[in-house]
Amino acid sequence: MVLVAGSANLDFVVRAPHIPAPGETILGGAFQTFAGGKGANQAVACARAGGVATHMLLALGDDAFAAPIEASLNSADVTLHTVRPSGVPTGSAFICVDDQAENAITVAPGANACLTSAHLPPLKGYSHLLMQLEIPMETVTAYALAARAAGVQVALNAAPAQPLASELLAAVDVLVVNEGELRTLAGVQGSIAFCLAHLPCPVVVVTLGARGCVVREGATFHVQTGFEVLAVDTTGAGDTFCGALVAALADHTPMAQALRQASAAAALACTQMGAQNSVPTAQAVAAFLAQSPQPQDASDIEALRQYAGLS
Ligand code: RIB
Repeated sequence: MVLVAGSANLDFVVRAPHIPAPGETILGGAFQTFAGGKGANQAVACARAGGVATHMLLALGDDAFAAPIEASLNSADVTLHTVRPSGVPTGSAFICVDDQAENAITVAPGANACLTSAHLPPLKGYSHLLMQLEIPMETVTAYALAARAAGVQVALNAAPAQPLASELLAAVDVLVVNEGELRTLAGVQGSIAFCLAHLPCPVVVVTLGARGCVVREGATFHVQTGFEVLAVDTTGAGDTFCGALVAALADHTPMAQALRQASAAAALACTQMGAQNSVPTAQAVAAFLAQSPQPQDASDIEALRQYAGLS
């Protein structure tokens, strides 16, 4: 059983030809709202991946923004442990998606900032705790230390990028970062492989967008090339990867297969607008993988290994 502790936001999304530069005003397309937040997106991805029950600890305001988020989590079969601080709005995110499917996101944390160490439910029965950095850092650290003490595996997606205390890093079993976050956290110059080796966590995953991902598991490196899709919106793709990966690991799936499933889920999440609504089901991922080449293309693997400094 997996516990996701983290943020839930209502996403306010506008599509535009490009992401505006400072001081620039541009005309975009229609405005849409979607259930989002890195924590809630990852909880939905974990639940839709199947294989393990998913619970989520989250904080919501007592306002109209909370209902679509709760409806989305409920429809994905995520069991909720909801904190409702009074007089605080639900978290929200303001997202511009450009015609290349990339985004720029500003988050107003609202109720997410009210999660404290006191809100952690009893950890009995959970194998994994999955977190991100859209709730207070001291809360993330307290939860990680409590989980480590209880023998629960701690997975942390260190996004949005922030410095991490060594006390927190030492309590993380599976760290998921993008390339920029990896270089900042490793604090060394050099190849991706070199940076991965400089982090103390037993498993470190670096996601590399459409290229795929590279993982150090102990002394072993894995590479997973990206799946080609027609991307319309990359919002939530990284979250889908994290949720699907932790679901697979909690279901005792070997790392190479877990990476393949998580990468396929993340690719499919790019094919629709929005965060939680674009997270694919396990059946959709299985169908996609059934028509995808296996093993991965040897030249693609070699290009990724070279990019990471592994060959
Ligand atoms: O990772 C995507 C998410 O980041 C969005 O859903 C938004 O709410 C922000 O948390």
